[in-house]
Amino acid sequence: MALRELQPSPEALPVYEPEVRIFLTPEGVDNFAASKVITLLQNEPSAVLTLPTGSTPREMYWLILEAFNRGEVSFAQATIFNLDEYWPLPPQDPASYASYMRTRFINHIDIPRGNWHIPNSAAEGANEEATRFEALLQQTGGVDLAVLGIGPDLTCHIGFNEPGSAVTSRTRYVELDPRTLVVNQEHFPDPSQIPSGAITQGIADILEAKRILLLAKGGGKARGIARTLKGPVFAEAPASFLRYHPNVTFVLDRDAASLLKTNN
Ligand code: GLP
Repeated sequence: MALRELQPSPEALPVYEPEVRIFLTPEGVDNFAASKVITLLQNEPSAVLTLPTGSTPREMYWLILEAFNRGEVSFAQATIFNLDEYWPLPPQDPASYASYMRTRFINHIDIPRGNWHIPNSAAEGANEEATRFEALLQQTGGVDLAVLGIGPDLTCHIGFNEPGSAVTSRTRYVELDPRTLVVNQEHFPDPSQIPSGAITQGIADILEAKRILLLAKGGGKARGIARTLKGPVFAEAPASFLRYHPNVTFVLDRDAASLLKTNN
């Protein structure tokens, strides 16, 4: 969708009922997400993808790698944009999203080095780096599929678009929500070393993807998913903005979906 054309009245956007797929197990979520990525690339080898990090998509990457190793899928013509990255942080830090992507995925597939983009966590200026990344994103001619996770607790963040993010937001530097800092610091050997900020694709960038999958697994995501799907569409739950998009699928395991019925 061309969000730019709809400004400055995003509140006038139509709200859609997203597709919700609920699987009995987390493996169901992993298989569904991996198969969507694989099928897209089989049909459109030069597809542009926006991809997430976090614990939720780990098994998705593993399954895609298995398919790659069997020769069923190639990234030779694909382009990948990551959703977000901490700033500032040495890119080689094991807790950086660049390290996550390299070790779990990028180093093992045939994507040309220039076709994978992630904000540079060691850039001198976060705003300048955000502008550079946004320009690259705009040059691609559009993202075919964006795969997202959802933030902890009731943050309902997507990428690092924390509560308060505008629907019109673009790639930028953000301060992390205190709830995000508490949960994400467990990925840092020294929890006090977690950066207080990050560079993230904006909500408008995410909404411009042709198709969006949001993955959530486990009971810890249940309240956030219920708020996102059953609460108001508003900046306090940035994932709720996905209801402005006509082609979104929420891919949930039974635990993540457990509060959907009672929150009607
Ligand atoms: C981080 C990332 C998000 C991700 C979220 C969920 O905060 N910035 O893009 O969706 O974590 O992480 P997990 O999958 O580990 O729950």
